[in-house]
Amino acid sequence: MPVVATTLPLPEGALRLLEGIGADVRGPEGWAGALGEAEALVPLLTVRVDAALLERAPRLRIVACPTVGHDHVDRAACAARGIVVTNTPDVLTEATADLTWALLLATVRALPQAERSLRAGEFRGWGFWDYLGGDLAGRTLGIFGMGRIGRAVARRAGAFGMRVRYAGRTRLPEEEERALGAEPASWDELLAASDVLSLHAPLTPDTRHLLDRDALRRMRPGSYLVNTARGPLVDEAALVEALRDGPLAGAGLDVYEREPEVHPGLLELPNVVLLPHVGSATRDTRTRMAMLAARNVHAVLTGAAPLTPVGGGPR
Ligand code: GLV
Repeated sequence: MPVVATTLPLPEGALRLLEGIGADVRGPEGWAGALGEAEALVPLLTVRVDAALLERAPRLRIVACPTVGHDHVDRAACAARGIVVTNTPDVLTEATADLTWALLLATVRALPQAERSLRAGEFRGWGFWDYLGGDLAGRTLGIFGMGRIGRAVARRAGAFGMRVRYAGRTRLPEEEERALGAEPASWDELLAASDVLSLHAPLTPDTRHLLDRDALRRMRPGSYLVNTARGPLVDEAALVEALRDGPLAGAGLDVYEREPEVHPGLLELPNVVLLPHVGSATRDTRTRMAMLAARNVHAVLTGAAPLTPVGGGPR
């Protein structure tokens, strides 16, 4: 009976699928104690799957991340042991792109700040010069990381009349650039051109602190940053300075350098919208993510190829 250790409660459908192959599923309370026997591990982002953890799991065959991000998993250590790593691309693309736009709009129009003001009893009736935000139409949205989510964000930009420029690891085929209305740029050009810069790259050694103090200084005066990717892409201390002293007008963040910690400077600033890492948090999307993780476990434990191995296809 293969043991599956999962750090999150799995939905009914996933449990049925795994129980169908006789798996013994050990949930959030029992997963750590079950590592010694586990053939599969389903780790949340908050669990670091490193060489030390793998040492406690000698029978492991698959690490099935129930997320698209997998920077919490030491892939080299897994590969050295022949352990498959899978993630959940595609199923969260649209929900995450929606949330990116919700956060972008909330940030540029300072909506949470306005709502807090109303709840504090400060709404005095329609005030001509009250609660002013920025415009989007005719402005440039810069996208760093034109993978699935970056492209889904770009697709929505036309509805708001924004121009799209993008940079990242891969250049899109020209036909796709035309369809998205997205113009390629270098990183430096993107920093200089973006009225709103939105990050959609995975966290890798190359992207850690991509937005450091120097890069932040080169952003447009009065521009906005939106980050729904990974916190460590941005040097948070430098971001606090760029928000306080310029050039940034504001930032919308869903992710942080040291989650669940949020830099105290960010909490004090009035021009920041802070969300608790909810990019893919819809009921259907999260269910699809958990199901895909379970289907990957099912595949590997029955000797089939994993459905969505990390690094197994275009991103
Ligand atoms: C969430 O951050 C994910 O990577 O799916």
